[in-house]
Amino acid sequence: MQIIDRQKINNQIEDLRKKYGEDRSALMPILQDLQEIYGYLPDVVMQETAHAMGIHPVEVEGVASFYSFFRTKEKQGKYVIRLCQTISCDLAGKQNVARQMENELGIKFGETTKDGMFTLEYTNCLGMCDQGPAVMVNDRLFAKVDAEKAFRIITDCRRDFLKSDFPEVVPSDVKKAGPILDHGIKPVESLKKALAMPRSEIIATIRESGLKGRGGAGFPTAIKWQLAGAAKGDKKYVVCNADEGEPGTFKDRMLLYEETDLLLDGMTIGAYAVGAKKGFIYLRGEYLYMRKYLEKALEDRRTQKLLGGNILGYKEFNFDIEIRMGAGAYVCGEETALIESLEGYRGEPRNRPPFPVDTGFQGNPTIVNNVETFIDAALIISKGADWFNEHGTDKSKGMKIFSISGDCELPGIYEFPFGIKVSELLKEAGGINAKAVQIGGASGHCIARKDFHRTIAFEDIGSGGSIIVFGPDADMLQVAKNFLEFFVEESCGQCTPCREGNPKLLEGVELLEKGRCSVTYLNELKKLGETIQVASKCGLGQSSPNAFLSIVENFKSEILSPAVAGKLTKEEQYAR
Ligand code: FES
Repeated sequence: MQIIDRQKINNQIEDLRKKYGEDRSALMPILQDLQEIYGYLPDVVMQETAHAMGIHPVEVEGVASFYSFFRTKEKQGKYVIRLCQTISCDLAGKQNVARQMENELGIKFGETTKDGMFTLEYTNCLGMCDQGPAVMVNDRLFAKVDAEKAFRIITDCRRDFLKSDFPEVVPSDVKKAGPILDHGIKPVESLKKALAMPRSEIIATIRESGLKGRGGAGFPTAIKWQLAGAAKGDKKYVVCNADEGEPGTFKDRMLLYEETDLLLDGMTIGAYAVGAKKGFIYLRGEYLYMRKYLEKALEDRRTQKLLGGNILGYKEFNFDIEIRMGAGAYVCGEETALIESLEGYRGEPRNRPPFPVDTGFQGNPTIVNNVETFIDAALIISKGADWFNEHGTDKSKGMKIFSISGDCELPGIYEFPFGIKVSELLKEAGGINAKAVQIGGASGHCIARKDFHRTIAFEDIGSGGSIIVFGPDADMLQVAKNFLEFFVEESCGQCTPCREGNPKLLEGVELLEKGRCSVTYLNELKKLGETIQVASKCGLGQSSPNAFLSIVENFKSEILSPAVAGKLTKEEQYAR
């Protein structure tokens, strides 16, 4: 048993508090660093952290147990291997990789080898859906892993070769660039232009452009900025939501890496427009490998006076950005849950109103925008509102970056105008044989061929950018099952409809799998799904049944096939 010296822990905690701050919002980074030191969070470490921060130990345990990347029970292996179990990686052959890893290490997923070298874990979408199956080993990411590559990864870990053998950041696969990705704007150009404008003109330009949030919800960006700017308070915050956890989405990963300056310009412009002095990039735990790169970019900007005091010589414009890491909780993509997490709490969504624009981070006015939204805002300031809104539809202006994966010949990142038809998009990505397309990730809708004429736009089918293609042979029941497993795991458990309802839907899918679900019971499940949609507290629960319901709607005879085809007796059909 590991003997832990309390005095030593206290010294470590004090050092970490100096680094991250003394208030509660420092809890997550402190726990993350302590886990790095001890391999997990033993009780004594959590107790001493609670004592130092003046909070109850149960609070610390509550936070640690909420996030899947924290471990409180046993020490994790020197190498934690996380294999993506989400749908695109599942379709790409995750099962073979899992089998190879289990055989090679002699353990099952969820276990650690006796020598303490390896832990095997499943994880949800790693943002590599176009290059799956994806595997993360500590802070390293591996794409297109097959059985042979899995063996090599393990061998390299055993020889401690892992660090030198692989690139730091896996390249992005941009298949089609447009005005946004081919912008031709130099770093800082947008920021310089913005700082020469009155604050009100910045917001007016964003309003004229018609920019709506690119994370999926589509709230007008200018209204957010206007409200936060007008809200009373000396402390205001800008938060970049880089918690790209929606299965099938990987475009922010590319943007964070390839368009870092434009993103930081956009955040700084937002801060100037609303009067914020502090910003955060909330980076998902799965993108840990990008942290050093982003820290370096921030440091370079401080040296160039693009962050810090008197930015670009503008007196009284002080703004800096800090990176805060998520810890494996999909729900933190919801802006109020993200703020709770930033404050050092469990990532449980808040009731709204009040909205973050007047009661956000630590009760102060806060704008939370997606990575792509900040980048679009910076480009709009440089190129003008008309340049942006000449693309798209009346209600969905501009170009949109899509992540396309699944059963298509050319998975990758695409830039299309809002209003593009699903059929056009499939043609570009080499997926014309598709029988279904999941639009908007696990929380989106699954549409069948009869609807491929429909468009991707906020007024038709909205999307944060995730498109997953299912070919003619895809098993739609397995698709529904994969998404429901995801939601059962990711529900924060705060409200009953989501916490209890999704496992019931999953049980229903398991009955369907066995051909033991009657049409009557399926209709009950549909009603349950509709109830979860209206009765859940936040967007996660409200959207969790979408995929299941649309698959039932569009592929009813397929998912009922064993019973419909008369393969089961009446008794068997009704037994459950
Ligand atoms: Fe596996 Fe996204 S990385 S589904």
